[in-house]
Amino acid sequence: MPGLVDWSARMQEMAQFVGLSPEEVELVRSTGPLVLAHAEALTSAVYEHFLQFPEARRFFLTEDGQVDQERLARRKHSLVWWLRNSIEFKVAEEFPVQLVATAVVHSHPPTHRAHLGSVPARYMIGTISFAQTALAQLLRQEMPDPGLAWRAAVAWNKMLMVQLDLLLASYVTEQPTAPTATPHLERSEQTP
Ligand code: HEM
Repeated sequence: MPGLVDWSARMQEMAQFVGLSPEEVELVRSTGPLVLAHAEALTSAVYEHFLQFPEARRFFLTEDGQVDQERLARRKHSLVWWLRNSIEFKVAEEFPVQLVATAVVHSHPPTHRAHLGSVPARYMIGTISFAQTALAQLLRQEMPDPGLAWRAAVAWNKMLMVQLDLLLASYVTEQPTAPTATPHLERSEQTP
């Protein structure tokens, strides 16, 4: 991960790249009360899903291999916190840095969790996809205007993708191939 990054600027650029408009951010905000009214069901669904996959499940087990209900409750609480911040989506404030900090907690486990290693990056991607689908279903079920529900789901999808960029920032090597000093010329471009 690069040393000094303006995460807020990066997030704003990603929002532009995926075409997340200010109107769509407002639309996401307007769904806040509805989404938060179902926060418990949403977060429970996420963790029930995690528990079906052994490589994800192992992060939520006690030493004797039972599901650690206390840890699960703490993590559900974290996800509700994340949902609230997602709805507010304050790109110009501390939210982008909090997302990168959240990414680091997953990619670089703290000492008390070091023996488990990193949360696999694919599960970060999978969680965002799972959340997108669950939210789209919720909006379709709960919003009386299907057209508006569809637009709100599109807005949530884009907004969650913008977040995924930061949630993967501590995993991704930005340049797997560094630029070379001299441009590589195709044979036809080379002078004889
Ligand atoms: C969209 C994806 C995810 C988000 C937004 C998210 C969010 C969070 C947040 C906000 C925390 C609290 C961080 C803190 O206390 O500083 C946390 C902790 C944690 N998450 Fe996630 N999480 C995601 C995916 C996952 C996945 C896929 C797993 C495992 C399969 C996972 C396992 C954990 C664990 C084990 C902790 C505890 C870290 C610790 O305190 O040592 N998370 N998560």
